[in-house]
Amino acid sequence: MKVSKIAVLTGGGDCAGLNPALKWVVKTAMDSRLVKERGIRYEVLGIREGFKGLSVPEPWNISAEEHITYLDEETVRTWDRYGGTMLGTSRYSPYDPQCNTVDLVIKNIRELGLEALIVLGGDGTLSIASRLAQSGVNVIGIPKTIDKDLAQTEYTLGFDTALNVITEEVDRLRTTAGSHRRIFVVETMGRTAGWLALEGGEACGAYITLIPEYDFSFARVNELLLEGKKKGARYEIILVAEGAKPVGGTEIVQREAVDSFGHKDLGGIGAFVADEIQRITGLETRSIVLSHLQRGGSPSAHDRRMGRHFGIAAVELVVKQDYGKMVCFRDGRITTSPLQEIQGKVRRVDVSTLYDVERYGGRRSVLSVF
Ligand code: F6P
Repeated sequence: MKVSKIAVLTGGGDCAGLNPALKWVVKTAMDSRLVKERGIRYEVLGIREGFKGLSVPEPWNISAEEHITYLDEETVRTWDRYGGTMLGTSRYSPYDPQCNTVDLVIKNIRELGLEALIVLGGDGTLSIASRLAQSGVNVIGIPKTIDKDLAQTEYTLGFDTALNVITEEVDRLRTTAGSHRRIFVVETMGRTAGWLALEGGEACGAYITLIPEYDFSFARVNELLLEGKKKGARYEIILVAEGAKPVGGTEIVQREAVDSFGHKDLGGIGAFVADEIQRITGLETRSIVLSHLQRGGSPSAHDRRMGRHFGIAAVELVVKQDYGKMVCFRDGRITTSPLQEIQGKVRRVDVSTLYDVERYGGRRSVLSVF
């Protein structure tokens, strides 16, 4: 029986769905029935805190499993019930000039005798995976981010659970908004893509949804609000993606610095929109920022199942030794895409088919007419 070692890591922002995927990577790799069919038994190593866990000399010699832990079916048995990542994560990039540990990472992978590395990540982490693949490392990617903004895939782990958080929190907000006859502006995450705000707005029944892909006009926002008031609305809910901006405006950031992946620290548009609405219309308006609540909580049924499918598919690619690929969800199927196809790209909302630019919300025609 050939014994082969693979490792798995989670990098970038955490989200629900990571632990279900980790569980099914381990269960598939170590499934005794599949071992018989393949003639290979896999050992699975968990790398802690993303690429940071491979960026120290001889991480296997450091005690208390600080950087590397051996995983097995009993260890991961209950993981699919929990949010976040049991391995921990980081936004550490070995390609960051301030880190510059690519050679050490590749050396550790070789010295650990790894057949393959499975990387769960968003655009930043999977771009690292793609560059390692181009340097000859056997890498498989699994798409995760609540932003759902990865190219080549129509789903990324964490998105559905985040949608549920938005829906539940806005439902909770409606009673106080109605009691005080207030407008509430709710800022969602999503970076430069509007998927979370757009689909969150459709799910929670927001009156207006503002997204980064279509700059909004305050005059139009206020016109819509005054129209609603005239029709007798006691209150309104407005969803604003953190990357949205007014016509001629710029994204609002919380601080000028960018992270290891070059991402800005967006935040503050919700309060800005609320202040402007109250200043111009006189309507009492408040804002809240859902922030990291959208990343938390136990995985929804959809994220548990997608984590299972992606985890199984990633190991199937390892068995076939079909490396340099990311497992994806496209046209209703689990499929794959070369990692290079996603590197440095962002999948954004197609305004022409998905967004109502008059009413600032989800599309109002859904039967495909072309
Ligand atoms: O990419 C996922 C995400 O949640 C974005 O929507 C958000 O802008 C960013 O991560 C927040 O990053 P951090 O967790 O480092 O504050």
